[in-house]
Amino acid sequence: MHDPAVVRAEYADETRLAARKAAHTGAEGPDAREVLFEAVVERGPARILEVGCGEGELAERLGRETSAEVVAIDQSPRMVELARARGIDARVGRAEELEFDDASFDCMVAAWMLYHVEELDQALGELARVLAPRGRLVAVTNGQDHLKELYELIGCDRVENQFTAEVADEALPRRFPRVERRDAHGWIVFPDSDAAQTYVSSLVALEGARVPPRDGEIRARRLPSIFVAEKA
Ligand SMILES: C[S@@+](CC[C@H](N)C(=O)[O-])C[C@H]1O[C@@H](n2cnc3c(N)ncnc32)[C@H](O)[C@@H]1O
Repeated sequence: MHDPAVVRAEYADETRLAARKAAHTGAEGPDAREVLFEAVVERGPARILEVGCGEGELAERLGRETSAEVVAIDQSPRMVELARARGIDARVGRAEELEFDDASFDCMVAAWMLYHVEELDQALGELARVLAPRGRLVAVTNGQDHLKELYELIGCDRVENQFTAEVADEALPRRFPRVERRDAHGWIVFPDSDAAQTYVSSLVALEGARVPPRDGEIRARRLPSIFVAEKA
C-alpha cells in the first residue's frame, strides 16, 4: 500500500477512490466521516491543514461550516485539481516534506492516507513539526481485520498495511503525549458479488483478484478508527 508507483497509479485520477467511497455509502454502523468532522471542529481550530485531501470533500465542508482557514495538500495533481475546483487552497505536496513553517497550524488532518506514505516515520515527524503547541492531529485509518470477509472470499491474506489502527496505537503516542482513539466500526454490505468485484477491482494492489459469483449480499466488517492526537 505504500509503494510509490502503486500509490501514484491508484490516485492518478478519482475513479478508483470514488468507487470505494460509493461502496461505503449506506454502510451499517457509525459514519466515520462524521466522527472525523466532529473531532476536527470540536476545539474551534483557526488554521487547518489537511494532508492527503483526495477529492477535497472534507476540506470544502470545513471551509463552508467553520470560520477556519483551510489548506489542503495531496501528492496527486489530479486530486489537487479537483479540490481546487471546490474553491479550496489546495497544493501538490507530500506528507514526508511539508512545505510549511513549524507550528503553523492548530489542527491537522491525515484521513486514510498514512498507510500510503513512503516514509511513515518522516511523515509523522513532519505532522508533529507543523502542528502548533496544544494543537490537534486527527488521523484516520482502518484496523488490520478491515474487510476480512471480502479478502477471504478472494483468497487473499489482506493487503500489507504499514499504518493499521493497531500500529497507530503504538506509533502516535511516541510523537504525541495525548492520544484518544474513537472507533467507528460497522459493516459494509455489497448488494451482490458484482458490487464486491467493483470494489476489489478499484484497488491496484488486488489487480486480477476475482470475487466468486454467488447469490445474495456480501457483508464485510469495516473497522475505521479516528485518532485524536494532541501536542504538548
Ligand atoms: C484513500 S485516499 C483518502 C483521501 C481523503 N483523505 C479521504 O478521506 O477521502 C488517500 C489520498 O492520500 C494521497 N496521498 C498518498 N500518499 C501521499 C503522500 N505521501 N503525501 C500526500 N498525499 C498522499 C493520495 O493521493 C490520495 O488522494
